[in-house]
Amino acid sequence: MNYDIQKIRSYFPVLHQKVYDKPLVYFDSAASAQKPIQVLMAKEKLHNDYYGNIHRGAHFMADKTTVQFEEVRDKIRNFINAESREEIIFTKGTTESVNLVAYSFCEKFVKEGDEIIVSEMEHHANIVPWQLAAERKKAKIVKLPFNDLGVLEIEKLPSLINQKTKLIAVAHVSNVLGTVNPVSEIIELAHENNVAVFVDGAQAVQHLQIDVQKLDADFYAFSAHKLYGPNGVGVLYGKKKWLEQIPPYQGGGEMIAEVSFEGTTFNQLPLKFEAGTPNITSVIAFGAAIGLIIEIGLQNIEEWELSLLEYATSKLKEVQGIRIYGEAPEKSSVISFNIEGIHFYDLGVLLDKMGIAVRTGHLCADTVMQHFGINGCVRISFGLYNTKAEIDIFIAALNKVRLMF
Ligand code: ALA
Repeated sequence: MNYDIQKIRSYFPVLHQKVYDKPLVYFDSAASAQKPIQVLMAKEKLHNDYYGNIHRGAHFMADKTTVQFEEVRDKIRNFINAESREEIIFTKGTTESVNLVAYSFCEKFVKEGDEIIVSEMEHHANIVPWQLAAERKKAKIVKLPFNDLGVLEIEKLPSLINQKTKLIAVAHVSNVLGTVNPVSEIIELAHENNVAVFVDGAQAVQHLQIDVQKLDADFYAFSAHKLYGPNGVGVLYGKKKWLEQIPPYQGGGEMIAEVSFEGTTFNQLPLKFEAGTPNITSVIAFGAAIGLIIEIGLQNIEEWELSLLEYATSKLKEVQGIRIYGEAPEKSSVISFNIEGIHFYDLGVLLDKMGIAVRTGHLCADTVMQHFGINGCVRISFGLYNTKAEIDIFIAALNKVRLMF
């Protein structure tokens, strides 16, 4: 594999530092990825060279900013192979993308007694918005369970779908279990029954090549900050046929065609769903992050990260008293675990003191914790910049902590 890890790491100045006098090992990219210089420079360039509000100004600065902003929309369209740029909506992040669909889709298509299927392994962000919508519309949430390996029991899906089912919400990759869910299969089955599918791609786009047309997803959401881009920007892909039918999520400037006290008409896609001045700076810098991913190649990233995942899993399995949550055959870059006799929080704090950043707690996934009867766990997650040498440091630190208890 042609993967120049030293060159890649050189793009991320933040990684080359010591914390508590120990070299930093950043194993928390699933929470938020570090930002490359390309992203930092894009922000600086925008504000040093030209900057204006988009779509509104009749001056050089506004025009140039608008062109740059809209070019990112085209980049994203290509990146996930959407059919048209009108299907790419900028949001604040995956969470807002879910809330948008949960509100607008349910407003239009869900009525009293209808059902929405949500998988048991979802992040809170892909459960709570559906619960709020279901409460509003007097609809019901139905659980699609997973087994102890962390694999969705999709053989149960046909019996869960009925005339009242309107939508299935599922993560492409679980943020706790790392499971890569068979979304194509789920979508196929859903469509045979006229059911729409919302895919939470927050933990997938940075690891796997996504083709929304091939998947045939109705909605697909992700965040810039997990894709090495800035915070505060996300994407909602939606099939045009849905986006045209569902009502706007928020009102404000830009999403309108004409406003009067007698009534308002709405703008065309995608602006119908982009009320107010968007996060212009972050969208433009996000374009630089996508540029870097394309330059390195998602297939190369996927291979690299899978080799890290395999290496870390085999090393972790040798650690006494370990319990790994999520052992699906199709897995992506996260490993969640507990070690018998050590509280996950203590483990996280001690690893931090050794320079290793991990995530601890319920990982915003209470239903996964409930499945395993735990209050929390430790999670390591890999990005395109991690190395096997860092895994060795982590395993040595883990064994050191184990000896303390
Ligand atoms: N969703 C992010 C995570 O899993 C915050 O850590």
